[in-house]
Amino acid sequence: MTQRVALITGAGGSIGSSAAVALASAGFAVAVNDIDAAAAERTVQTIRAMGGAARAYVADVGGSSAVDGMVQAIEEQQGRLGVLVNNAGNPGRFSLLLDLSDEVWNTTLQVHLSGAFFLIRACARRMVLQRWGRIINIASLAGVQGTIGSAEYGAAKAGLINLTKTAAKELGPYGVTVNAIAPGMVATPANLALQAKGSRFIDSAVQGMPHARLVEPAEIGALVAYLSGDAAASINGSLIPIDGAAGVSLTTDHYMRGSLSSRSAFLKEN
Ligand SMILES: NC(=O)c1ccc[n+]([C@@H]2O[C@H](COP(=O)([O-])OP(=O)(O)OC[C@H]3O[C@@H](n4cnc5c(N)ncnc54)[C@H](O)[C@@H]3O)[C@@H](O)[C@H]2O)c1
Repeated sequence: MTQRVALITGAGGSIGSSAAVALASAGFAVAVNDIDAAAAERTVQTIRAMGGAARAYVADVGGSSAVDGMVQAIEEQQGRLGVLVNNAGNPGRFSLLLDLSDEVWNTTLQVHLSGAFFLIRACARRMVLQRWGRIINIASLAGVQGTIGSAEYGAAKAGLINLTKTAAKELGPYGVTVNAIAPGMVATPANLALQAKGSRFIDSAVQGMPHARLVEPAEIGALVAYLSGDAAASINGSLIPIDGAAGVSLTTDHYMRGSLSSRSAFLKEN
């Protein structure tokens, strides 16, 4: 059997590289996308050092023609795409919506939501022909509940969750499943650096998790690998939280309300 190919966007980053490594360990050839060439190359080298197959594809997922060109190139160079993980994008910029600029709103929706749509469309057009595919969208707890300071990011992720459910219904008849994962606060290098500096924002997130720690990127990678397998054929249109029960907590909101209100340019001027 030819090796199935998995495309992970933003796979130079923390969660994306964990997903890429988990999929390589599960036997997939990996297409490593990132806008940052050096970051993508690091993940490629990690996978090759494990004995896996990987290639880097540098593209901005926010551009429709760049996405179409990348998917075409992957098919020519690595073979038919079986798995798509929509992961690219930076966590939010954190401001009250009173202070939110058009630019931040538009860019965030372009990358997190339009980018995911461009990729789903391009990959699904191929997956339906082979009657098999797995699409996994990395959403966020912020897309499930309103989150103070994350209006643009939460709206983009909420859109991604709804897109997941529609895509699952439309593509399910062709053997293609579409699911979303909603992580809580993750132990990425950026968040760990903040934690080491004594960040009260990170502390507030940890306080909201009964197991009192951040989510490990590898925990997300393991779920991505499971959802990508044949055993997960009946999991479709699902939103799976990995948040240590932070979804029942409001500690981060309490912290953000105080912190962002005191920094708000709009409130200072009015
Ligand atoms: N870190 C968290 O606590 C957390 C929680 C919930 C959800 N998420 C989501 O997980 C995903 C990955 O986040 P992360 O924490 O690993 O971030 P990260 O910054 O470590 O990785 C994101 C990667 O995406 C790449 N990227 C950004 N814009 C891109 C674009 N337009 N095209 C292609 N690549 C692009 C970046 O270069 C980076 O390598 C994001 O969608 C994020 O919203 C993160």
